[in-house]
Amino acid sequence: MRIIQVENQAAGGRVAFELLKEKLAEGANTLGLATGSSPLSFYEQIVESDLDLSDLTSVNLDEYIGLSGENPQSYRYFMQEHLFNQKPFKKSFLPNGVAEDVEMETRRYNQILVEHPVDLQILGIGTNGHIGFNEPGTSFDSTVHVVDLEQSTIEANARFFDKIEDVPTQAYSMGIRNILNSKSIILFAYGASKAKAIAGTVEGPITEELPGSALQKHEDVVIIADKEALSHLKK
Ligand code: GLP
Repeated sequence: MRIIQVENQAAGGRVAFELLKEKLAEGANTLGLATGSSPLSFYEQIVESDLDLSDLTSVNLDEYIGLSGENPQSYRYFMQEHLFNQKPFKKSFLPNGVAEDVEMETRRYNQILVEHPVDLQILGIGTNGHIGFNEPGTSFDSTVHVVDLEQSTIEANARFFDKIEDVPTQAYSMGIRNILNSKSIILFAYGASKAKAIAGTVEGPITEELPGSALQKHEDVVIIADKEALSHLKK
């Protein structure tokens, strides 16, 4: 794992943008994208650049169950708003939060990942160490699946909703195995609330109790973080 300490989120976005350009020059054509506040400065860099994404494919990590793409709290809407409207990809995939058949949607999304292997996966991390929506206890062998969100995740994400009752309790998420299948990974973490999760991800035992620790098994992971998020590291 490579750790790049940055001054702030804006600087992190710039560093990641440079890494993206390197990967594109090496032939990357499928990006795995994430929502949340952590990747925002990276998306801003892309939007402000003259980069053309129209030959690339994107595959998102996760989506809430029960929210359609027109719902402003859905991850589809978030991606439209922050990236896709300004910089359209050739194709952009997200799970369909209102699919009638949940089993079938799970299989469909897995198949999309088989057909579009990810070259560069963008990740944030939950305060409990989740990546995507893979909560503690998720098997490292997991593929796309339905997740019952932990109370702490619901509370953390409530800030985007009018009231906590509006936060969906389930989501589709790429599994840990899908994430590890990506050729390379960039994980963003900012702020003291992420310090424990980052310590476990980087130095902790590799355990399903801390999903981020699975990344220790991957050869090409870059963590872009501020001082606060790195403050629990021993080395
Ligand atoms: C959500 C998302 C994750 C994200 C996490 C952290 O739970 N499903 O993909 O990494 O939030 O979000 P933030 O970057 O806003 O702290």
